[in-house]
Amino acid sequence: MANTILRKRRLIPGQTSELVIDAPHVAAKARPGNFVILRVCPTGERIPLTIADADADAGTITLVYLVLGKTTAHLDTLEEGEDILDLCGPLGQPTHIRPHDGRVLCVGGGTGIAAMHHIAKGHHLAGNRVTGIIGARTRDLLLFETELAAVCDTVLVATDDGSHGRKGLVTHLLEECLGDGEPAAEIVAVGPVPMMAAVAEVAGRCGVPCLVSLNSIMLDGIGMCGACRVSVGGETRFACVDGPEFDGGLVDFKELAQRLTAFRPMEQQSYAEYQKHHVCRCAN
Ligand code: FAD
Ligand code: FES
Ligand code: MG
Repeated sequence: MANTILRKRRLIPGQTSELVIDAPHVAAKARPGNFVILRVCPTGERIPLTIADADADAGTITLVYLVLGKTTAHLDTLEEGEDILDLCGPLGQPTHIRPHDGRVLCVGGGTGIAAMHHIAKGHHLAGNRVTGIIGARTRDLLLFETELAAVCDTVLVATDDGSHGRKGLVTHLLEECLGDGEPAAEIVAVGPVPMMAAVAEVAGRCGVPCLVSLNSIMLDGIGMCGACRVSVGGETRFACVDGPEFDGGLVDFKELAQRLTAFRPMEQQSYAEYQKHHVCRCAN
């Protein structure tokens, strides 16, 4: 259980990378929608990352991360052949995948596109028709278009600046899909909170069930600490054990967005110190 990095691919230089990790015990049980919690060093924090793909035969899982702060920056220093200190998973409820008559619309934004890939693949393997709708600010920031093409019947792309695909937002493409006469059984959205809120709003207006994958702050990932609590349909739920997927029409996105900023000054200070010294405390 060394959690060795077998392959590392820089998807967006200096920003987003993909790791294929030797983790046979996790790979054997990983289902679409699951995530892991990992630690890079003994004094480091635990961070959740979605399992973007898993290969039980090869004993590997794929993670895709965006460098946002200290821990993802520290993770990004690891190269092929090095080990991730600990990796716990699979965690969370897997996506409920069942055969549908209508197509499934999988909407992804930013790093969420890689996370959504595993869900789209699950629907594809269940025999569902899958339309992937993905978006980024610009062409160079778009992830996993080729990987999605292998598991989707159609992939539609939107960029804010029109450098690739349609100029505009994924919600514009989603509205067009929902109006084209082909029935939609379900929408799944993974990405930034405002994107998921906008997708849930369109889905609600069109009367199509919509699942969103919530990225609330997590510590233990097993339902003990309460850090990941979210309000869904007026009830408190723990995203790590009850989710991370919930009915988008019932989620309090405003509260989720506020809670995600709760520790920002400390996170910024910690990242600034890490960048200044380029060492983690455990390396001293
Ligand atoms: P920091 O500077 O510490 O934090 C930057 C921002 O990230 C914070 O303001 C906060 O909004 C969020 N964050 C910080 N700590 C946590 C935490 N412990 N848990 C959740 N969010 C946190 N990111 C990816 O790039 N790829 C993924 O596949 C992915 N999957 C996720 C799956 C789940 C279930 C959840 C809850 C989050 C996922 N994230 C994913 C987000 C990722 O965990 C954060 O970006 C990461 O923890 C940031 O750590 P940091 O120290 O580098 O940045
Ligand atoms: Fe602790 Fe969910 S992360 S209860
Ligand atoms: Mg952090």
